[in-house]
Amino acid sequence: MPEQHFSEFHITIKHIRGVSSVGDETKIIAHHAKALQPQTALDMGCGTGFISIYLNTIGIDCEAVDINPNAVELTKENAKKNNIEIITYHSDLFQNISKKYDLITFNAPYGNTSSAKSSKVLEFIKSFIPKKTIITKISYYFIRKKRKELTKRFLEQAQSHLNENGKCILLMDNYEMDLLKEKKHMVLEPFFGGQIVLVES
Ligand SMILES: C[S@@+](CC[C@H](N)C(=O)[O-])C[C@H]1O[C@@H](n2cnc3c(N)ncnc32)[C@H](O)[C@@H]1O
Repeated sequence: MPEQHFSEFHITIKHIRGVSSVGDETKIIAHHAKALQPQTALDMGCGTGFISIYLNTIGIDCEAVDINPNAVELTKENAKKNNIEIITYHSDLFQNISKKYDLITFNAPYGNTSSAKSSKVLEFIKSFIPKKTIITKISYYFIRKKRKELTKRFLEQAQSHLNENGKCILLMDNYEMDLLKEKKHMVLEPFFGGQIVLVES
């Protein structure tokens, strides 16, 4: 599946092994992001660039960040393919980000990395595992603590990168929902053992 046209979104995305491919959750997050009509957005963990590219094509100024340098390069290439320009960052979460946004999206990965090297290895291994299968479920069980740590770090840091009334849309596993205990949030829709959640600043 090297290149795929998403007719519903009017964009074409190239995939490469070692960069997380577009999944159903990617498309659901993109739909909800559009509905919020933010002026500015950041796609945290951009992967192929799908969310940021789509949002730019509908007039939302969306930047993109990933810890995996291959994902950053692919996002730039896919942006060009769709005739748009995107500001990209290579960063562990918000480490290299100084701006604030109306919306931040995060489709968190299975696994938790805070280095470019380990993220490249992890994404490469994962690209052999089909999404939403029993194998994903079993592997997830063993690494869910690590993923939760990443989601926790994201929620703590995102707070200072949101404009007034800013929001985050993210995929949270059921196991992670207690991280939202003290945060104003609503479930947008359930998704494969978790939910797509809107978190307010
Ligand atoms: C499940 S993929 C989502 C990709 C894309 N947003 C999508 O929805 O198709 C998660 C992405 O997060 C990136 N990632 C993992 N840890 C990260 C970190 N600490 N900081 C930034 N990005 C990270 C991975 O490299 C991967 O591209």
